[in-house]
Amino acid sequence: MQHDVIIVGSGAAGLTAALALGQDLKVLVLAKGTLTGGSTAWAQGGIAAVLDAGDTFENHIRDTMIAGAGLNRLETVEFVIERAPHAIDRLVELGVPFNSEGEHLHLTREGGHSHRRIVHVNDATGWAVQEALLRACEANPNITLLPNRACVDLITGRHEERYSGSGRVWGVYALDETTGKVEAHTARATVLATGGAGRVYQFSTAPRGATGDGIAMAWRAGARVSNMEMMQFHPTCLYNLDVKNFLITEAVRGEGGHLLNPRTGHRYMADYDERLELAPRDVVARANDAEIKRDGLDYVHLDISHQPADFVKAHFPNIYEKLMGLGIDMTKQPIPVVPAQHYTCGGVLIDLDGRTDLPGLYAAGECTESGLHGANRLASNSLLECFVFGEAAAAHIRANWDSFDAPPPVRAWDESRVTNSDEEVIIKQNWTEIRRFMWNYVGIVRTTKRLERAAHRIKLLTDEVEDYYGHFRVSTDLIELRNLLQCADLIVQSALRRKESRGLHYTLDYPQTLKIARDTVLVP
Ligand code: FAD
Ligand code: SIN
Repeated sequence: MQHDVIIVGSGAAGLTAALALGQDLKVLVLAKGTLTGGSTAWAQGGIAAVLDAGDTFENHIRDTMIAGAGLNRLETVEFVIERAPHAIDRLVELGVPFNSEGEHLHLTREGGHSHRRIVHVNDATGWAVQEALLRACEANPNITLLPNRACVDLITGRHEERYSGSGRVWGVYALDETTGKVEAHTARATVLATGGAGRVYQFSTAPRGATGDGIAMAWRAGARVSNMEMMQFHPTCLYNLDVKNFLITEAVRGEGGHLLNPRTGHRYMADYDERLELAPRDVVARANDAEIKRDGLDYVHLDISHQPADFVKAHFPNIYEKLMGLGIDMTKQPIPVVPAQHYTCGGVLIDLDGRTDLPGLYAAGECTESGLHGANRLASNSLLECFVFGEAAAAHIRANWDSFDAPPPVRAWDESRVTNSDEEVIIKQNWTEIRRFMWNYVGIVRTTKRLERAAHRIKLLTDEVEDYYGHFRVSTDLIELRNLLQCADLIVQSALRRKESRGLHYTLDYPQTLKIARDTVLVP
């Protein structure tokens, strides 16, 4: 099936690009599972933008660079932050019902921000944004939305019927999850907007499908990836034996929440950083981890019960309701929390037009490394990145449309040498194993020895998974396992190369930060 442009992913980045392209081009949006299955729908805190009279772009840029421990590319930081107010205006036009105070949008605060600058829809901003973008895409006849399509690999010059030797990307092979058949979808341009790789870790706030598919597909096709060692851990994921990945938004700390040691009741952040609970995320996550490990705790406490009950309920209605359902009244008692993987700062290397290394391939959102986040993402800068780069990629494609060739005939997916799997148990076993050793060996605090252990296991598993992949029909689980393993390898290889501690990469073997900040760029 041929379209003008294919977008893989229906989150904030993919749908923003679709809306901009759909003005005059025929766009196909493919999504694994449902159209609302990405992280976008789960975002809580909000979107960062300079909207307060006392705030400036310079402040937001400085906060972003401080959080990113100097690894950010200044040009990208400026590019994104200066476009934030426009992105918010656009969302308002699309009908996102941001909270307001009189004539102004209400701004909340999160860690690492020197000013109030987070626009939000209560504590469920992502769902409101996802709904508004989907509504607008559904109303556009140029945009076709196809859920239940798990893309397996990019179609490149290697798959042309008459091999031309070009490194061009022509679309994707995608598994129709309802029929089990793999289809070739071709287009003049392809945009990856597949989100992060958080599920490579045992504990993550990210949805199940965050398996780094776009990063792995781009890498296999020959694109460079960068800074994959910079995995962000959120300090406050709910600790609950049944509900494993429910985030407690940083805005709870922004609105006055304290972190307490449950054994002593001590408010410990003063022992770690003068910015207390509003220090950047890497600092707070490490502090929580240190308290838990030192005292052998299961969790630490996040307490906002000193604020008036009505204030808490008004600011955090969804979290309040969810916790009440679990028997925790946050207006009266502290919330048990632990750190969990939250965001993939590294990814496919892109420029300011969203272009990857491969002709015809663009990327936007969490699957990329654009230079915005550096060694640690500032809270609420990631949805913003999706809007800015979704638009930027679309603008570049539209402006250069005449230079894009029509795709040549490509080979159909070859299933002649595979059979149905008779050992699904291998997938489950390997998936569990990867996530566990990544958590234990490649987590918040690292050592070279642990990274080497992880690398060794990845090598063994890769042989097994490639053998399995070569013999059996693909399923979504198998596609995800293969990509998780690929991403685990990219993370570990990147972590082994960084001989310093910076931002989210903290290793006991190299605790110092080098004078010059350098990206870890892996070349396929
Ligand atoms: P996603 O929204 O993750 O979408 C990925 C899309 O790609 C999905 O449609 C998925 O189905 C599709 N896909 C993936 N693989 C394939 C494949 N193989 N084939 C086809 N389709 C595929 N950021 C903020 O700025 N503010 C916040 O308040 C905030 N809160 C957060 C709360 C939580 C719990 C989480 C997990 C993240 C939060 N973040 C927040 C981060 C932010 O939500 C994400 O970075 C952002 O939504 C990513 O958007 P995206 O469009 O890049 O990808
Ligand atoms: C949160 O609400 O704490 C998440 C914000 C973010 O990840 O940017």
